[in-house]
Amino acid sequence: MTGQIHFILNDRTICTSQPTGVTVLDYLRLSERLTGTKEGCKEGGCGACTVLVGELQGEKLVYKTVLSCLLPLGELSGKHLVTIEGLNQAKLSPIQQALVDYGATQCGFCTPGIVMSLTGYLLGEATDINEVGIKTALDNNLCRCTGYGAIKRAGSALVQSLGKEEVHNLETWIDKGIIPEYFRHIRDRLQQLPQSISASENGKVSPEFTIAGGTDLYVQQGDILANSKVRLLNRSPQMKGIKTEGNSIHIGALTTFADFANHPAIIKLIPQIQTYIQRIASHTIRQRATVGGNIITASPIGDVSVMLLAFNADLVLQEGDNARKVPLREFFQGYKKIEKQADEILTEIIIGIPAVATQFNFEKISKRQYLDCSAVNSAIFLNYDGDVIARISIAMGGVAPIPLFLKQTSNYFLGKRVTPETITGAFPILQQEISPISDIHGSANYKRLLARQVLIAHFTELFSEFINLKDFYATN
Ligand SMILES: Cc1cc2nc3c(=O)[nH]c(=O)nc-3n(C[C@H](O)[C@H](O)[C@H](O)COP(=O)(O)OP(=O)(O)OC[C@H]3O[C@@H](n4cnc5c(N)ncnc54)[C@H](O)[C@@H]3O)c2cc1C
Ligand code: FES
Ligand code: FES
Repeated sequence: MTGQIHFILNDRTICTSQPTGVTVLDYLRLSERLTGTKEGCKEGGCGACTVLVGELQGEKLVYKTVLSCLLPLGELSGKHLVTIEGLNQAKLSPIQQALVDYGATQCGFCTPGIVMSLTGYLLGEATDINEVGIKTALDNNLCRCTGYGAIKRAGSALVQSLGKEEVHNLETWIDKGIIPEYFRHIRDRLQQLPQSISASENGKVSPEFTIAGGTDLYVQQGDILANSKVRLLNRSPQMKGIKTEGNSIHIGALTTFADFANHPAIIKLIPQIQTYIQRIASHTIRQRATVGGNIITASPIGDVSVMLLAFNADLVLQEGDNARKVPLREFFQGYKKIEKQADEILTEIIIGIPAVATQFNFEKISKRQYLDCSAVNSAIFLNYDGDVIARISIAMGGVAPIPLFLKQTSNYFLGKRVTPETITGAFPILQQEISPISDIHGSANYKRLLARQVLIAHFTELFSEFINLKDFYATN
């Protein structure tokens, strides 16, 4: 579906009637012939297609690294798109020079993406350029020639040469040659650009596809989205962000994983959220993937869905002026089958704030520690009355066709003290309640074993002073 999309591509103002659902990657390579942005996996997993997108937030121009293979062109409306060609200057930027100096490029296919990710990191950091930040910024960039040692050394050199400065902003990065001169005028130029696409693009016709962050949909349906009617939810700012109202936390469905993990209300509820979130996708994906998208995708291993199940969250679904509430625990009906009408939009997710002190833990088992799907994941949420469990809910993914609330296993624990015997007593109930299948993440038997292990892990993690691994494994 087409409309007039206005944006700035590097130094050029663009007005295009290309389809809004076409990926920015295809647009760049096929229409603009800007082939410095590489096509690797087209699934968000390699970083070869990384670009920068700059957006006005009030008076401020904010840049983020984005994977162009998962980004619909229509989202560029009113924004600044920067590709590797747009960083070209008379001489190499300090980032490019560091990669050259440390021999951090071999075949070079991944190098443009790495330069973009490092540039995005610098533009986003006002004061504290450090090696941890550089490593995180590159967590979505694969280099199949395994030049990682050299890339890391180049990153360390950048920290040494740039990290000690007091305050950085776009002007100082221009002065240091990180970005070209034309960036000085982008803010004023964006203010002049039309922000909307066209009336028909904004939902007047019934769309075939609804796109939030696109991190699931483009992987599954990337080839057909370019020629389909699409509704870009990210053009509705009211569905973003988190607010606390009375005893509830309201999470806009378009809240990204990154914003979810950084919000004070979520940090209060899940004190370890910053640790858990590192295990979910990558830094770049977390800035696009939405909480709502994780639920609607209904993947049996959706990490955020499993966390929200443990909190007994409610969903608000809306079609036109009609809104209804559905408990998340009743939302997943079968494999990828959800309690939602075709035209309904998930607008927000509501979690009750517990009145008493509670404990929460999340476990994720995957083949790789980072940037990998769960084989099995699980969240537990509980509190006590005296020394017995007064409230508990355990959710588990990868053990059924849906992200599963373990109702019977949770009920078993109610009113019991936390002892090794109590936990062991839950094993048969757990095994009877789950129904894993063999797939690429592991065999059914392996997942049954993992289900038991993550249950043990919850309790050893939360009650380490009196529950430990020796209670369950004779050989330990
Ligand atoms: C490299 C990579 C790594 C990943 N790692 C993880 C991981 O570790 N853990 C994990 O759980 N997931 C992971 N994912 C999957 C994905 O990022 C998440 O499922 C994400 O939450 C999807 O959200 P989205 O906004 O991108 O959804 P989209 O792709 O935009 O949409 C997904 C589906 O939901 C629908 N939809 C989205 N929002 C709404 C709404 N508000 N109302 C109605 N329908 C809606 C869309 O129509 C579509 O059918 C990964 C994905 C990639 C590409
Ligand atoms: S092509 Fe691999 S992340 Fe986009
Ligand atoms: S230099 Fe070859 S893939 Fe990175």
